[in-house]
Amino acid sequence: VDNGLALTPPMGFNDWNSFGCNVSEQLIEQTADYFVSSGLKAAGYTYVNIDDCWMTHSRDADGRLVPDPVKFPDGIKGTADYVHAKGLKLGIYEDAGTATCAGYPGSLGHETTDAQSFADWGVDYLKYDNCNNQSDGSKADYLNRYTAMGDALKATGRPIVYSLCEWGDLKPWEWAGDIGNLWRTTGDISDNWGSLKSITDANLPLAAYAKAGAWNDPDMLEVGNGGMTDTEYRTHFSLWSMMNAPLLIGTDLRKATPQTMDILLNKDVIALDQDPLGKQATVLSSSGGAQVVVKQLANGDRAVALYNESDQPQHIATTAKAVGLPASALGYRVRDLWQHRDYQSAGTLAATVPAHGTVLLRVGKDLGALLDPSL
Ligand code: GLA
Repeated sequence: VDNGLALTPPMGFNDWNSFGCNVSEQLIEQTADYFVSSGLKAAGYTYVNIDDCWMTHSRDADGRLVPDPVKFPDGIKGTADYVHAKGLKLGIYEDAGTATCAGYPGSLGHETTDAQSFADWGVDYLKYDNCNNQSDGSKADYLNRYTAMGDALKATGRPIVYSLCEWGDLKPWEWAGDIGNLWRTTGDISDNWGSLKSITDANLPLAAYAKAGAWNDPDMLEVGNGGMTDTEYRTHFSLWSMMNAPLLIGTDLRKATPQTMDILLNKDVIALDQDPLGKQATVLSSSGGAQVVVKQLANGDRAVALYNESDQPQHIATTAKAVGLPASALGYRVRDLWQHRDYQSAGTLAATVPAHGTVLLRVGKDLGALLDPSL
């Protein structure tokens, strides 16, 4: 939606994947601290987002939502102040139904009041879920419920990123871009290869619907949670960046390993996600689980993912021409974004890729060679 926000996909953290209902002010503030000390903030991670279970089970006498005083002793306002003081932004969760998925008060029929609370507290991002929605399942009903909150957020005058979470139910890619900044395209991710593979397969074909301020959301990151190998987590991070997905870290950062941090802090990969052209990657070829996925970049380069979704190693190959690069007598410069290795190619782009692995390349016409007399 054209609210000037999320011109590149949002980056940050959300507690749900690793903490479920165990959210607290302390967790959010420690995560904000860690964003600063670890370099995550410098790498572009900005939003520290609270998911479900942050409130009490009833509204106050004025009909307003009440933050759980045990989990959030300083309220959402106090938590937001802390996060803002670190130069970061705060996100929250609600639901377009009578109750959230975990059974706390929903916003259906309370949109104006709740949006105003969020704005008063200093909230910068809202994830809006779809449980207990009393819906007849029609598109008109979905539009009504999600537009009601979108309008209420707008009316507050506070810039708030609006994230729709209806799990891909009614093809939100066809309509949600007029209402919000991103929309979930599938059911919930879980920390295993089968989930990653099926979500990727569902989200890859939706490239045409994504643009600045309006992104497909294949759900939050599982990187670091232990259910997949680091090879699989690199595939996860590679493909999410290729698909212009939000990069919302879903692991307990206070316990993150150096391998996890290496993945989350890979600036070359993040740069694909945050590329100013805002074009989601498309599948160039796919056979026997060997996929070539290509993304056009603002400076004319192409990002190329040689993605092996099969269970055995595969040789995957394409060419500079096939990925859309112009002919070049001098050849192409290639950067392997995980091996941090630069090389030149006459045009072939190929690698043997381990099972469930991704070789991620950034490829451009070799102009540098022009200036180098030794070549
Ligand atoms: C739904 C959403 C999840 C999470 C939970 C919270 O399942 O899709 O991402 O927000 O609700 O209850």
